[in-house]
Amino acid sequence: MSTSQIVIEAQNLFKEFSGIIAVNEVSLNVSKGEIFSLVGPDGAGKSTFIRLLCTILAPDSGSARVLGFDIRKEPEEIRRLVGYMPQKFSLYEDLTVEENLNFYAHIFSIPLEEAQKREDEVLKFSRLAPFRNKRAGTLSGGMKQKLALSCTLMHSPSILFLDEPTTGVDPISRREFWQLLFDLKAKGTTIFLATPYLEEAERSNRVAFMHTGRIIACNTPEKFKTSFKEKIIRLKSDHLLEAKEALLKVWPDLKIINYGSELRIISGDVSERKRKISKILMKNAIPLAELEITDPDLNDVFIQILQEKNYGNN
Ligand SMILES: Nc1ncnc2c1ncn2[C@@H]1O[C@H](COP(=O)(O)OP(=O)(O)OP(=O)(O)O)[C@@H](O)[C@H]1O
Ligand SMILES: [Mg+2]
Repeated sequence: MSTSQIVIEAQNLFKEFSGIIAVNEVSLNVSKGEIFSLVGPDGAGKSTFIRLLCTILAPDSGSARVLGFDIRKEPEEIRRLVGYMPQKFSLYEDLTVEENLNFYAHIFSIPLEEAQKREDEVLKFSRLAPFRNKRAGTLSGGMKQKLALSCTLMHSPSILFLDEPTTGVDPISRREFWQLLFDLKAKGTTIFLATPYLEEAERSNRVAFMHTGRIIACNTPEKFKTSFKEKIIRLKSDHLLEAKEALLKVWPDLKIINYGSELRIISGDVSERKRKISKILMKNAIPLAELEITDPDLNDVFIQILQEKNYGNN
């Protein structure tokens, strides 16, 4: 990826909706063939940023080039060359798999004969060929997403913009979907996606963490994790609040992250700390379900970054 060709180049992109800043001066570059993930909480601006790059929305200020074309001056060229799978992709549920693909071929003005050939290729690629005559509405969630991806691929785009393509899809189908993304990457397609799943971010070449319209950190998953020097102690208990209080009473500056049904405690000397934690909890008669030392994951890294940058998370 060293002598890479930049295919997405955004500079200070800015978009607001009647006073709400959705995308705040975002600059980034993406190279050809990268899988680039955008992660961040609800309302961070991920979809808006993608829509700006796909020329569905125009920015208020800033600029961007996609495959060398200017998003303001050359939107038609960009739309011809990129595929966009929106967060709520609409399939025609009462049309068959094949008819949905035909519809997209028609939108992209693909001549009939070529469309037929492309349809066969896309169905083979997504392994949906056995279902070509099935109505889209009767497909499983994972298959619907594969069909949505297939529709997006009909005009052979060089860049794919996927907005939360696997949200709500079961883990096995998600893995299958990712296999398709890796196959596309191997053919040189660039993939830019928004995802709520950190395991998807971990499979990407680079990850940008977006918060309140800004990209507050961008790196490879490996570099993100190695930049995090400390280890983590996972604590599970039915009494998380009490456990947190008891620990903060002893160590007021202890870094504790609320993480779903567990606490994640960031510490330099984890083995010694772990021993002391179990003593403190025992003394306070707080029952423990689990207490173990683990490596940080991307979520730990992002929460830490938020705290360092004073984005006021817990
Ligand atoms: N068309 C619109 N009109 C008004 N406000 C909008 C519009 N689109 C987005 N917003 C606002 O802009 C902000 C960013 O929204 P956006 O959908 O880009 O975030 P997101 O990161 O994709 O969130 P999610 O994870 O929920 O999909 C939010 O505050 C949202 O309410
Ligand atoms: Mg979104």
